This record gives sequence, C-alpha cells and structure tokens, in this order.
Amino acid sequence: DWTPASFVETTVKELRDQLGNDKVVLGLSGGVDSSVAGVLLHKAIGKNLTCIFVDNGLLRKNEFEDVLDSYKDMGLNVIGVDAKEKFWNDLKGVTEPEQKRKIIGRDFIEVFDVEAHKIQDVKWLAQGTIYPDVIESVSVNGPSATIKSHHNVGGLPEKMHLKVVEPLKLLFKDEVRRVGKALDIKASLLGRHPFPGPGLGIRILSDITPEKVRILQEADAIFINTMKEWGLYDDVWQAGVMLLPVQSVGVMGDERTYENVVALRAVASTDGMTADWVHLPYDFLAKVSNDIINKVRGINRVVYDISSKPPATIEWE
Ligand code: XMP
Repeated sequence: DWTPASFVETTVKELRDQLGNDKVVLGLSGGVDSSVAGVLLHKAIGKNLTCIFVDNGLLRKNEFEDVLDSYKDMGLNVIGVDAKEKFWNDLKGVTEPEQKRKIIGRDFIEVFDVEAHKIQDVKWLAQGTIYPDVIESVSVNGPSATIKSHHNVGGLPEKMHLKVVEPLKLLFKDEVRRVGKALDIKASLLGRHPFPGPGLGIRILSDITPEKVRILQEADAIFINTMKEWGLYDDVWQAGVMLLPVQSVGVMGDERTYENVVALRAVASTDGMTADWVHLPYDFLAKVSNDIINKVRGINRVVYDISSKPPATIEWE
C-alpha cells in the first residue's frame, strides 16, 4: 500500500543507491514540487545536494528573502542568486508575451548553468518534475502548449550535460503534498498557490520596468495578504494581480489623476486546465480595492476579472 511514509523510506534508499557519493544540483523555485524534491534529496544525500534559487526580478514582494530563509530553516544548502538586473536588461522594451517567456527561460538556464558549474564535480541535475508534467510533455503540454509555451526547465538537462534525477516523477500533486507533510515541511509552504515560472513578467501587460514590477508587487501583496487574513487563501486555487497597460482618470483630493488600472484574478481549479473565477465576498473586494488605491502610488482603479477558462486563460499573457 502506498503511504507517504513508505514512499519516503523507499525513495531515500533508492536515491542513496543511485547517487552514491555524487554531487547533485537542484533548482528551487519556492513552489511545492521543487521544495519537496529538495527536502527528500537532502534527507537522502545531505550535503552533496546544492540548491540554487534565482531571483529573476519578477518574484512576489519579499519572496526571494522569505523563501530563502525558509529553505535555510529546513537545513538545505541553498545558493541565492540575485540576477534581477540581467533579466530586466534583457527584457527591456519587450512586449510580446511569448518573447518574454523565451527570454526569461533562456536567462534562467544561463544563470543556473553558471552557478551549477561553480560546484566542483557536480554529476546530477535534480528536478521536481511530477507525473502530470510527464504526461503533459508527452502530449506536448496539453491544449495550452501552442497557446502559451510553459518554459520552466525545458532545455536545462540538454544544456548542462548532467544526468537527471526526478524523485517525484510518478506522483500527483496531492501525493506530493502528502509526502511533503511526512517530511515535516510546513503547511504554509505546501499550501502555496501555483505561480508561473515567468512570474510577474507575464502579469505586466506591456514592457517590463523595475518601477512596474514594484507597483505590481505592492498591489499583489495587498491582495494575497488580505486573502490570508480573511481566511480565503486556501479556498482559492490561484490568485494574482495584472498590471494593465491602461491609464484611467481619477480624482484625489482636488487633483485630477491619470494612472494605471490593475485587474484582480482569483480562480478555482484542480489542474489549471479549466478554471472558474471565484465569487469572492464583496466586502473583501472592497477592502482590497481601497487599500490598493490608497497605498500603491500609480494605481487609481481596480477591476475584478470574472472570466472563466476556457476561453479566458488564468494568466492574461
Ligand atoms: P493559463 O494562463 O495557461 O495558466 O491558463 C495555467 C497555469 O499555468 C501557469 N502558467 C505558467 N507556468 N510557465 C509556468 O511555469 C509559464 O510560462 C506559464 N504560463 C502560465 C499559470 O500560472 C496557471 O497556473
């Protein structure tokens, strides 16, 4: 019978046999899959595992610091790489969504490759691939593949000439969470909403600038933190804010303003393939809207996205 505990026990044994005394590198993203893969491998091979966490300048507010701290608390050996400037530079002036994805994916591989090769004698690349990822890549990413290229780590193994180890390859998401629980990973990490690899880069619907990233981070933090305070976070599958390339007129005191619009998105889903917009309470939406408009300079209007997938995808780009 499959139990999380028996899976951990067997997999740790197998990983020890397979990896021996070899050095392994793993890219952490802050997400559930890579975190569980990291803790599992750490349990198996300890200090021979090095994790790399890249700040692409498109993460949520304080995400890099917070996630890095929680990984260190779990005993993982993590190298945090601040590559913000590289990503922002390479993305300068780029507006086309697929082009953004390509640049972000390529930059990630470049940064990761350089860092990984600083580790002496590294032989293996570990990945947090789970079963649906395997199926999706067989069916060429499901229906969304031709619509949006989900970059993640595609291309990384080929580029790096490393052997690949994927300890979660046969698990579904709920099983990964249960394994994570058996490994004592804290609930707040295991219950995190999915977040796209290209991050806020595909939630800024125009060219990306550090200032737009800052504005979006502030608005997003208000939305997500308020959702947690109101006890709504766990009822939502994924949520985020889109910074629209639209300015609208407003009034502030006696002044006319002409500033940006943001759209809030919150969906219910099981796998992201289909999704319904969530009927968040009006009081909650009112509070979030007020806080964003009053606290985030540069935004004077908030709208709520009431579109389901299909046809509207979860992300706007
Ligand atoms: P869409 O927008 O296609 O999103 O309805 C479905 C799920 O996939 C995430 N997403 C991505 N994840 N790289 C990723 O790693 C990407 O390029 C990407 N695009 C969308 C999205 O956040 C949602 O969870």
